[in-house]
Amino acid sequence: MTITVVGAGYVGLVTAAVFSELGNKVYCVDVVPEKIEGLKKGIVPFFEPSLSEFITRNIKAKRLFFTTSYKESVPKSQIVFICVGTPPKESGEADLTYLFAAVEETAKNFNHGYTLITIKSTIPIGFEDQLEATVKKHASSKFEFASCPEFLREGTAIEDTMHPDRIVIGSTSQKAQKILLELHASISGERIITDIRSAQLIKYAANSILATKVSFANAIAVLCERMGADVEKVLAGVGADRRVGRSFLYPGIGYGGSCLPKDVLAFIAIGRHFDYDFQLLQAVDSINNDQIENFINKVKSAVGGKEGNLKGVKLAMLGLAFKPNTDDMRDAPSIKIANHLTDLEATVVAYDPQAMDNAKRVIKNIKFAKDAYSAITGADAMLIITEWPQFREMDLKKAKKLLKKPIIVDGRNIFNPKTVKEEGFTYLGMGR
Ligand SMILES: NC(=O)c1ccc[n+]([C@@H]2O[C@H](COP(=O)([O-])OP(=O)(O)OC[C@H]3O[C@@H](n4cnc5c(N)ncnc54)[C@H](O)[C@@H]3O)[C@@H](O)[C@H]2O)c1
Repeated sequence: MTITVVGAGYVGLVTAAVFSELGNKVYCVDVVPEKIEGLKKGIVPFFEPSLSEFITRNIKAKRLFFTTSYKESVPKSQIVFICVGTPPKESGEADLTYLFAAVEETAKNFNHGYTLITIKSTIPIGFEDQLEATVKKHASSKFEFASCPEFLREGTAIEDTMHPDRIVIGSTSQKAQKILLELHASISGERIITDIRSAQLIKYAANSILATKVSFANAIAVLCERMGADVEKVLAGVGADRRVGRSFLYPGIGYGGSCLPKDVLAFIAIGRHFDYDFQLLQAVDSINNDQIENFINKVKSAVGGKEGNLKGVKLAMLGLAFKPNTDDMRDAPSIKIANHLTDLEATVVAYDPQAMDNAKRVIKNIKFAKDAYSAITGADAMLIITEWPQFREMDLKKAKKLLKKPIIVDGRNIFNPKTVKEEGFTYLGMGR
């Protein structure tokens, strides 16, 4: 099939890479010319394992093309995947400016007998009529809308797209269902075929349950600290039950990234539109925000003396990305933590294996080190912010020599408290 993918971000590029790998002819359109120029040479504008190899291979095979022109791609395509961003507005609602612009440009360039506009972006429920009206303003040829929400995880995006748990197809049109089933034929995973609204709801509900698990783990962690229990053992015991599962049941400094925070807030806002007060998710969001404060309080108690004063204290933040294996800094908890620490007049030196360039754009007033050991040199404490594998494997004897004070505040529980204490460290984890 010939496909257009609109938006060369995380979702768009992975979608384009995988469908071209599977033998389709794919055009990927973006409005940022520099991004497209780079992509034509195989330069991926962010870090995602294997993505650049997939892209380079399919450019060479003449199955994958990058362009800024809808005109060059949409008329040839039977399917147009919309993969543009839907960032949060101040109110928590999703900003649909990019979505409507992309759909409008697509509509202006229809030329195929039938075009299936398939929305992969996460968009709120209830915009079908407006989207349809936008297309009808410009296009006279036949078209249909479908929703095909994306569930990839950054860091394992290619694997997730090639071998997903499920493929959700939201359309009541038999023709649209047939086309999308055929396109996904060689991809594994359960097929869930439903109407557009249910498909969109699946996406918001899925991210919300993941966020709920994280906040639940954090609430248990707070209780464990007060009760003198070990959260890691408690959650291992809870998660061993297959009805619950251990995935996402980990305490820490809270969830971040481009999806969970914004989708939880957007889901609360969507609920409001439909006259539902989503108290559960409000609590999930509020527990998530509290974890930043909890972590800062631990740092204060570990290095700030009786008063918890951090003025002039030097702190090393290890990890900045919202999770390992990505350079994505969108809504990363590290941003709030760094700002909070510098507001308290601490000196912060940070290191992340991949996210330094992006971090420099969004975190000011801190220093950046060339590696983890340089970051901790002369620091009053080492703070674990992202659970990159290389931090777990650090040489603790060396770390102890480099630090001014042997203190670890572990926001991700990556270390075994017994081992680090035996090495002579003061150790504060989350909920243990
Ligand atoms: N990133 C994820 O892990 C993930 C996972 C599942 C779903 N989603 C959802 O998928 C959507 C896209 O997310 P993302 O992380 O890929 O976003 P992104 O910001 O990385 O990429 C969006 C791209 O769209 C381009 N764009 C904006 N307006 C355009 C237009 N009119 N025409 C062509 N291109 C345009 C931008 O230049 C950008 O390159 C969002 O709704 C997000 O919630 C993201």
